Amino acid sequence: MIRSAISGTGSYLPEKVMTNSDWEKLVDTTDEWIRTRTGIVERHFAAPDQAASDLVANAAEAAIADSGIDRSEIDLLIVATISGDTPFPATACWAQKKLGLKTIPAFDLGAACSGFLYALNVADAMIKTGNARCVLVAGVEVMTRIMDWEDRNTCVLFGDGAGAFILTPTTEERGILSSCWGADGNLAELLVQPAGGSAIPASADSVANKLHFIQMKGNEVFKHAVLRMQEAALKALEMAGMTGPDIDLFIPHQANTRIIEATIKRAAIPLEKTMITIDRIANISAATIPISLDLARKQGRVKAGDNLLLSAFGAGFTWGGMVVRL
Ligand code: ACO
Repeated sequence: MIRSAISGTGSYLPEKVMTNSDWEKLVDTTDEWIRTRTGIVERHFAAPDQAASDLVANAAEAAIADSGIDRSEIDLLIVATISGDTPFPATACWAQKKLGLKTIPAFDLGAACSGFLYALNVADAMIKTGNARCVLVAGVEVMTRIMDWEDRNTCVLFGDGAGAFILTPTTEERGILSSCWGADGNLAELLVQPAGGSAIPASADSVANKLHFIQMKGNEVFKHAVLRMQEAALKALEMAGMTGPDIDLFIPHQANTRIIEATIKRAAIPLEKTMITIDRIANISAATIPISLDLARKQGRVKAGDNLLLSAFGAGFTWGGMVVRL
């Protein structure tokens, strides 16, 4: 049986760090509120001249170097993002140019915070069907460009960054072992960037009314996030024939430590076996999981043969769960 193995990882966090104390000077908030309600301490912000594709290029260069492949072997590029360079062309195409890749197919995938797991699923299907043999999958966000810097309900929650994997086929018992995904568009309005698309095109009014920024009913989203993150994690475990104790490291999407704590309780995974990065990088939507896995490898928290559980929840609503053996 053909499986998709992770043969390289890379990540990139912009240089500028913004702390909770920095936010105290800009909006009516406190370090204490942000830490206790979310777990966030600081986050990275892209420089004004950096677009999403620049962040992808940096993370992808690291993943290519880590995998040892030649970039000419890459035959598909998928970028998961909701804050890309331009509405079109795709951020994947801008990144393709910056990375000097061949004329391979390149496209974006928008599933918000679940985007990277969705993109891994698509890459996995392409590999299993023989349509691709070396896929570059990236997750990137420049959330600072789509958030309202005056809205304390959302601005303190997000950061910028990118992560990337190289996926290649293997006949060994490793790589993506199980995967589940889902969506519920009935709840789309609870977390949305209302303007800038065909529903509300850009206009002087849309800008004046701040409709190009993220709007979120935080406590409503929270309830669904807890439920779906748990469901997705448990389903991915079941599909892989595993239970919580079989997992060496759980890498959840990082939106709120309280959501992560509720998930690990249900899945019987101890905190020591859970990757927590939200304190340093905040919520980077589609980039959170690939960055967190790359950091886990760099910190020596995982090794070849380890079982990883991934789970995510985001706007849409969308969600996903996956078991991967390194
Ligand atoms: N500083 C101080 N007070 C604040 C802040 C802040 N930064 N933000 C909100 N508050 C206040 C509110 O105004 C409210 O005050 P009030 O009671 O006087 O009205 C109070 O804190 C409580 O607000 P809630 O929204 O109920 O706070 P909650 O405990 O739910 O925490 C949070 C908010 C952190 C957003 C939480 O609801 C959450 O994590 N939600 C889920 C986020 C998520 O999973 N998103 C999906 C991924 S993101 C994506 O897909 C792009």
